[in-house]
Amino acid sequence: MALLEIKNLNCHYGNVQVLWDVNLRIEEGELVALLGANGAGKTTLLNAITGAVTPTSGQILFRGEDLCGMSTDLLLSKGISYLPENGGLFPDMSIQENLELGAYPRSMWGGRKQAMETVFQLFPKLRERRGQLARTLSGGERQMLAMGRGMMSGPKLCLYDELSYGLSPLMAKEAMGMVKTLRDRGMTVLLVEQNVKQSMEIADRAYVLENGRITLEGPCAELLEDDYVKRAYLGM
Ligand SMILES: Nc1ncnc2c1ncn2[C@@H]1O[C@H](COP(=O)(O)OP(=O)(O)OP(=O)(O)O)[C@@H](O)[C@H]1O
Ligand SMILES: [Mg+2]
Repeated sequence: MALLEIKNLNCHYGNVQVLWDVNLRIEEGELVALLGANGAGKTTLLNAITGAVTPTSGQILFRGEDLCGMSTDLLLSKGISYLPENGGLFPDMSIQENLELGAYPRSMWGGRKQAMETVFQLFPKLRERRGQLARTLSGGERQMLAMGRGMMSGPKLCLYDELSYGLSPLMAKEAMGMVKTLRDRGMTVLLVEQNVKQSMEIADRAYVLENGRITLEGPCAELLEDDYVKRAYLGM
């Protein structure tokens, strides 16, 4: 059984359809990229998974269980962690306080020290600077903190929306490296990105969304050799 399976998903905003019959699956332990240009519908798909958008039709199954209508709390306790486009950090709180706030649902609160230790092992920089206010961090460090905070709820699946957005090419590369590290430690990740090349270099498989439809999918090693992908997305 797939960890996440999306079947024939259709989504509208009012009368305007933005997702058309989307099918996508993620096996446990996979790093899957969902790629596409501005307005393709990537965030809408994440919003449908997290319940912020109600699909018109279709199914979203997590370990075979339909997620439709579940509250954010319930999703968290099922093991789904969502990092929205802007990271959603508290700028006037320290790294440590931001991490503690990630220790939800309530059942995770007791284990927060252990969870923080895991995050610090993953991102030693956060330990060194744990008293530093989030707003004084660099863009790349902020993404590191946002990812760390997402780990505090003990997730099985991490959903990342545009981790590399607004980062310098070097920082973006670093952020991608962090995602790769998570995957190498066994985390399952859905990475939503406009940055096609860097995402395909680290992901196992990718889906390309164009105007609300999946137009391409497959192992990244194959997609990187695809003539259309090269022309349309890699500028080759
Ligand atoms: N709340 C909303 N109400 C109406 N239309 C919306 C809403 N949110 C998004 N849209 C429209 O739905 C389409 C898909 O938007 P979405 O944000 O999912 O794209 P995206 O692929 O995440 O783009 P980007 O890469 O710019 O973040 C766009 O045409 C957008 O204008
Ligand atoms: Mg988006």
